[in-house]
Amino acid sequence: MPKAKIVRVEPLNPSEEAIREAAEILKSGGLVAFPTETVYGLGADAFNPEAVLKVFKVKRRPLDNPLIVHVSSLDMLQQVASEVPERVVKALSIAWPGPLTVVVKRKSTLPEVVSGGLDTVAVRSPAHPVALKLIEAVGRPLAAPSANIAGRPSPTRAEHVVEDLGDEIDMILDAGETFFGVESTVVDLVSPSPQILRPGPLGPEELEKIFGVKFGLPPYARGLSSYEERPPSPGMKYRHYAPSKKLVLVEKGSCDTTTYFEFLMKQLESYLKDFPALIATKETVDEVRSKLGDSLTYFTLGSRENLFEVAKNLFSTLRILDKYGRVSIAISESVEERGIGLAIMNRLRKASSERITCKQK
Ligand code: TXA
Ligand code: MG
Repeated sequence: MPKAKIVRVEPLNPSEEAIREAAEILKSGGLVAFPTETVYGLGADAFNPEAVLKVFKVKRRPLDNPLIVHVSSLDMLQQVASEVPERVVKALSIAWPGPLTVVVKRKSTLPEVVSGGLDTVAVRSPAHPVALKLIEAVGRPLAAPSANIAGRPSPTRAEHVVEDLGDEIDMILDAGETFFGVESTVVDLVSPSPQILRPGPLGPEELEKIFGVKFGLPPYARGLSSYEERPPSPGMKYRHYAPSKKLVLVEKGSCDTTTYFEFLMKQLESYLKDFPALIATKETVDEVRSKLGDSLTYFTLGSRENLFEVAKNLFSTLRILDKYGRVSIAISESVEERGIGLAIMNRLRKASSERITCKQK
């Protein structure tokens, strides 16, 4: 039995009693994991520095990697941020609640530990009834990173939270599987030109519609390079989602579909003696299985035609891979880097220990 009290709640209509109990724990400095529309978060009262410190400690997260503050309204944003331009407030009145985190100037009254000593703060308003009701019941913003041990895949089910933090925290509100399965899009609104720091469910096209400006998409936001020195977002310099197994990401690069499939097959064949696993879309799994049969293990993420499905299954698949005794090496297919596909590729690149890219002849 884990130490945490696990309470099952209806995602759309959580019991008031459960929300009240969780809110009391948070108000007295405890830690509660709760569902959002992206992944489960580990909440603490953002204005209680000891509680926030506990979050870093139980997650084993470096103190220089700041947390996202969760608010239930634009008014609450003003408690943690300063000098938010009117046009940003207007855009957020459209985008929130939703899977969008904005990095803005920090209010000096917000405990520094939340932002890892930076003069900015990352804020979002989650579109999940349980999360919103919980923040409202506490009446204060909640600092809440993803509820996993640092470096592991973010939790998309309460069971994942139990696995990582069940003995370290006070309560888990279990509302079943989260909707998107990848973390929110993080954008930097304090730099001279707005940048995507971490791609998520909200893609560049949608951001442009909401804010009326184009957002930069630097290579590190695609997971292509890591920033060792002064990264724009401190989280970038740490490896993420990394399974304990070797994970080889086979990228499509400039190849057409046929050449890419042949390239992928070649990679798989070169690892066959190790009894590898293939992590891929349903279409690719079907095709590979028809050629290689049971000489490998298959993990199906979802249809190539529906990248939301692929995103939703990604982290739980990485967790299963970790526990799958028979497999020591996995080979993953890549997906199109568009919309939520950007988030999938960013997470896959960060999780992989090796990347091989197909080149069109
Ligand atoms: O969907 C989500 O965003 C989930 C749910 C729980 O809301 N939360 C989440 O939080 O993914 P976390 O702490 O695991 O990721 C926060 C990311 C990190 O990469 C961190 O470095 C970055 O946001 N970040 C936080 N504050 C920042 C700041 N002031 N400037 C730049 N990046 C920041
Ligand atoms: Mg995280």
